[in-house]
Amino acid sequence: MVLSSIRFKITLWYMLILGVTLLIFSVSVYQNFSGNLYGDLDDLLQSKAEGIVRSINTYWQAQEMDAAKEGSRASAAEKKDRENFLRIVRQWAQERSDDAKIPAAAIQIFDRDGRKIAASASAPDALNIPLDTLNSALEEEDDFYDFRPEGKKALPLRVYATPIIEDGKVSYIVQVASPVNQVYAALDNLKMNLLIFLPLTVLITGVAGSLLAKLTLNPVTDMVKTIRQITAENLKLRVKIPGSRDEIKKLADTFNDMLAKLESSFYAQRKFIQDISHELKTPLTILKGEFEVALQRIRSADEYEDTLLSSLEEVDRISKIVDNLLILVRFDSQEIPFKFQPVELKQLIQGVVNDISVLSNSKNIMIDFTDSDPLPLTADESYLRRVFLNILDNAVKYTPESGAVSIALRAQEPYAVIRISDNGPGIVPEELPHIFERFYRGGSSSRAGSGFGLGLAIAKSIAEAHKGRIEAQSRLGQGTTFNVFLPLFF
Ligand SMILES: Nc1ncnc2c1ncn2[C@@H]1O[C@H](COP(=O)(O)OP(=O)(O)OP(=O)(O)O)[C@@H](O)[C@H]1O
Ligand SMILES: [Mg+2]
Repeated sequence: MVLSSIRFKITLWYMLILGVTLLIFSVSVYQNFSGNLYGDLDDLLQSKAEGIVRSINTYWQAQEMDAAKEGSRASAAEKKDRENFLRIVRQWAQERSDDAKIPAAAIQIFDRDGRKIAASASAPDALNIPLDTLNSALEEEDDFYDFRPEGKKALPLRVYATPIIEDGKVSYIVQVASPVNQVYAALDNLKMNLLIFLPLTVLITGVAGSLLAKLTLNPVTDMVKTIRQITAENLKLRVKIPGSRDEIKKLADTFNDMLAKLESSFYAQRKFIQDISHELKTPLTILKGEFEVALQRIRSADEYEDTLLSSLEEVDRISKIVDNLLILVRFDSQEIPFKFQPVELKQLIQGVVNDISVLSNSKNIMIDFTDSDPLPLTADESYLRRVFLNILDNAVKYTPESGAVSIALRAQEPYAVIRISDNGPGIVPEELPHIFERFYRGGSSSRAGSGFGLGLAIAKSIAEAHKGRIEAQSRLGQGTTFNVFLPLFF
């Protein structure tokens, strides 16, 4: 649970990314630093060697000038001067090794054959000139290399060798060496610092990150607690909305919206069931009463027939309710197998008008169907008939005797609009928004009598399944108009 929690994962990723970034950073800092330190040391060694080379050259020039003056004693002077030269060189080597910039620097001078002719005291005996370096010196090239003395504790030396050129040819090689202990110490120091700093930083940010994640996710934990308490009986509960304006707030808002929808649909379902029970109870009570009365004593055949006939009316009523309910439930679960096919609207409505004429004639109501151009649609014919049947049934049912009903068709891109108006009692404004609700029956219906309050709900569902809609307008005492919008092509 803890290991799979978002908090743990975020913290772990956070630490991992930071660790890797810091590691890359540290390695590059270390390499850069070590490169710089070696570069500085090499520069020092080089400048020191160049100093010696310069001094030796100056000495030689002075010697040449003396020899030129004394001409004849050249060879003796040369020999003497060689010795003199070696002595001076040894002395230089001693003196110049003592340098504040590179302490413990070792200076050695080799001849063309690689023989050590002078060495400062600090130069280890084992430090000679490697063949490669000698060869490159003879080709007038200088060279850097590392020398590792024997012994475990001995520090490696950084060595620089450069040739001394006399009369255009390499005569000696100056070699300057310095222990790299300062470089090592500085690098060790840096390494230690990085080794402490890196894990410590990762640890601190890990702890801080974990706390931050906890803080951020606290509202989610609260939410989970609330959600756990929600049951079908407890749909009124809402999760606490955090004060922030972030994704968590969005989540809480969305969740509360969903709860509100769930609550309302749950109560709608409950009300629906109550309404159904209520609706079925009335005809069943009547049926029961009729049967009970019939069974009180022996009846004649005519009496039984009467009872059965009036029972049949109630059974019809029940079966009509159940039929309507079935349609609505199927709409809800989108299970209706529509058979969409080309339908000619004018003919279809004419058929419905004919069907309803028995009713309208009996109330002496005129149905005026204004002639129109044919309007072809794609629709399920039998369901579409039901839409107009239910609306026309209302119009005829609620309009008093000798009233008038009119039907008009027109195309209003992208819809075909069918207007059905009556001059009946109209609908009170407070009722109008509810007339499409299931089991809703307005005040006018009680006057007109029987009805389940399902006709318009079914008509609306069918229109919507055809990607259309129904609008109702009404003026109290003047009449009601229904406009059915159906897409011309879909
Ligand atoms: N043309 C109309 N004139 C006046 N009131 C109407 C008209 N059409 C609908 N109503 C009102 O809208 C309510 C809902 O209509 P709906 O057709 O859904 O139910 P119903 O006619 O009462 O019952 P059912 O159609 O299931 O037999 C009616 O009860 C009535 O109050
Ligand atoms: Mg109706």
